[in-house]
Amino acid sequence: MKNRKTKNGPIAICTGGGDAPGLNAVLRAVVYRVGLGYQGQVLGIYNGFNGLFAKSAEYEELSIASVAAIHTYGGTILGAASQGSPLRDPKEATASLANFKKNWEKLAPKGLVVIGGDGTQGMARQIAALGIPMVGIPKTIDNDLLGSEVAIGFSTAVEVAANAAKSLMHTAAAHQRLMVLEVMGRTSGFLALHAGLASGVDGVLVPEIPFSMDQLERDLRKKLKIQDRDSIKLGGRAGLQGVVLIVAEGAIALEGKKDSPRTKLTASGQTVLGGIGDFVAGELSRRLGIEARLNTLGHVQRGADPNGTDRILATQLAVEAIDALYRNQHGFVLTTGPQGYKRIPYGEITDLRRRLEPTDPLLITAQGLGMILGTGPN
Ligand code: F6P
Repeated sequence: MKNRKTKNGPIAICTGGGDAPGLNAVLRAVVYRVGLGYQGQVLGIYNGFNGLFAKSAEYEELSIASVAAIHTYGGTILGAASQGSPLRDPKEATASLANFKKNWEKLAPKGLVVIGGDGTQGMARQIAALGIPMVGIPKTIDNDLLGSEVAIGFSTAVEVAANAAKSLMHTAAAHQRLMVLEVMGRTSGFLALHAGLASGVDGVLVPEIPFSMDQLERDLRKKLKIQDRDSIKLGGRAGLQGVVLIVAEGAIALEGKKDSPRTKLTASGQTVLGGIGDFVAGELSRRLGIEARLNTLGHVQRGADPNGTDRILATQLAVEAIDALYRNQHGFVLTTGPQGYKRIPYGEITDLRRRLEPTDPLLITAQGLGMILGTGPN
């Protein structure tokens, strides 16, 4: 690599954890800001921190030409890393951190921009303690990073899930079926709730409010009765018009608790959530005697091209992060919200995840709308 030691020093950047729509938009804005604003260079580290944990640093220099058109695409050109952290095992951690330090000294960056969710920012907290100047940028389709109101990728994932729900509403009505859409979100219900409100489905089951199958059955019977009455009144076809429920992958049924939330083990030994939608569809079909089908949205939510909101958020946080690093301000995760930018010091980053509060304004909106939440009369 030629002459990295420009007046302002290069900036290193990595994308950790599971991918989310908008990562490439951050990379592009960082390269533009560093190159045009500070005449610096950007070192794109491969596969999260792994490119710096490796014996010899794995990275590429990012030029304006190489990133000019990437901001509208999903995924990340640097690769991500979500399969566990070497910092959890003391022996592995010592070796990885030693490599990190050696690589860091060799590349001599001015600072590191870390794009990631709670797992990646948790690792960053350990690395920041070594004195590495870092600024974190939150991304997660789950929107569950504590302290961050809105993370990159969330808006797009909501849009994808809401569009899927909307399509299901059409086919559910055409065939008088019950459609269940299982969405991601881990143990937080932000994605499910926002997608539910955006699409206007009949009900949303979120992990924060364990639902009662008996109550769900009662609510749906009531709903079907109303549909039946209205269709007769309107001179339409009597009976079920179609019902759509969004079920968060981490939703918990009060009955049959041992089966829910369900988890699967992948080939690499990773535990992933999934299966509660199947349980809900099966139970409701049996109890109500209607056709019920499950649709699991899965990684379609993660891999989508970022929408305008996520591209703007990504660009905004990237520029602010670079300006902070060149002003020698670091050691925090940068967020933004209605109150403007906020800096969460790495010392305050915890393993806890942000979850829906019972007082969440959108939960109250959903209740006000008569949305089925599986918790009894609203
Ligand atoms: O955290 C983002 C997320 O997409 C969750 O919503 C989901 O449970 C998980 O990652 C899936 O991870 P993986 O792709 O590693 O199975």
